[in-house]
Amino acid sequence: MTAISTQLVTALERQGLAEFLAGFSGDSVDLGQWARQVDRLDGPLRTIAGFFLLGRPAKLARLPPAVAAAMPRLREYGVAVQQGDEAQLVDVSLFRAHGVWLFAEPPSLFQVRHYFGPDSIALARRISYRPGSRVLDLCAGPGFQGLVAAQQHARATLVELLPDVARVAVLNAALNGLAERTEVLTGDLYDPLASGRDPYDHVVANIPFLPTLTEPGTETPQQGGEDGFTVGRRVLEGLPHRLAPHGTAHLTALLFQAGQELLMAEELRAWARAHGYALIVSLTDEMAVGPRSDLVQTAVSDLLDADPEADPDALSTEVADMFARSGATRARLSYLRIDRGVSGFRMLDHAAR
Ligand SMILES: C[S@@+](CC[C@H](N)C(=O)[O-])C[C@H]1O[C@@H](n2cnc3c(N)ncnc32)[C@H](O)[C@@H]1O
Repeated sequence: MTAISTQLVTALERQGLAEFLAGFSGDSVDLGQWARQVDRLDGPLRTIAGFFLLGRPAKLARLPPAVAAAMPRLREYGVAVQQGDEAQLVDVSLFRAHGVWLFAEPPSLFQVRHYFGPDSIALARRISYRPGSRVLDLCAGPGFQGLVAAQQHARATLVELLPDVARVAVLNAALNGLAERTEVLTGDLYDPLASGRDPYDHVVANIPFLPTLTEPGTETPQQGGEDGFTVGRRVLEGLPHRLAPHGTAHLTALLFQAGQELLMAEELRAWARAHGYALIVSLTDEMAVGPRSDLVQTAVSDLLDADPEADPDALSTEVADMFARSGATRARLSYLRIDRGVSGFRMLDHAAR
């Protein structure tokens, strides 16, 4: 299993796919920019890039033998299908960031199952893993955070709620030759971990943070509950039991502001004080919360999934009013850094620079 998978990426690298991808901005997961350049390629690299990046079908005979030989594995893991002599990826593309190859879906306004986005890359950029350290990747998705850690010689435990997504994380680990340094568990946050396990030097969680108006407890794994922090709160709750003394934790979050004031500041400050942690909240990209905003429209599309007869305009107003009632004037994509062994609370506003 491991051999065939690393052979696949080695073959792709030899054909120039890593070189091709390195020409694009490091934080981008934009398929549109790939599409514009793929058609300027020629020879096998054009076929490979069309197949792995853009999801185009390809005749097996036109793929390099090591790539064609990997197809049964890709089908077994649910990321490719084959009809006759033609194969095609299903839903996913092949990404590469921080030196890690990853089958995943690009972000979209609609819910995706095998998530990978600019926030995934931005979160990984914030963390230095020490060789041999123990890392817990909660909300692992197709595995990016845990695999970046393992690539840096850490030992990573990845936990993902959805079994088919966890399987893709297993495939991605093998693809990068990192199966020996990773274990992938299926389940809800800390639940699959045995109680006597040693604590972790790093806990990393790119949580689902899109706010949703569905009944509490009925959120899908891609939804973050009414204020977007339902899963985040549960990660924080469990942290004291699982984070080693002097360990660090890193979370993403979508946090709301009323003007300059962070609505969750008091809650986060109180949590850090109660547990004696130092918490740094980095506020980055800004998102609008008005009726036509992407954020509101995403929540509306979720509600329409549940009730296709509902009036989209009325729902947009309802969701935007909910944000307005909470006092929110905008949302900020945020990163939380938590250090054990010291205490304090700080905010870094990147937009203010
Ligand atoms: C935003 S994606 C993060 C993917 C990946 N860690 C990254 O940074 O690119 C969140 C993932 O968390 C999973 N998830 C949601 N709730 C979970 C829970 N309670 N326990 C474990 N995983 C969960 C979702 O299925 C989804 O794959």
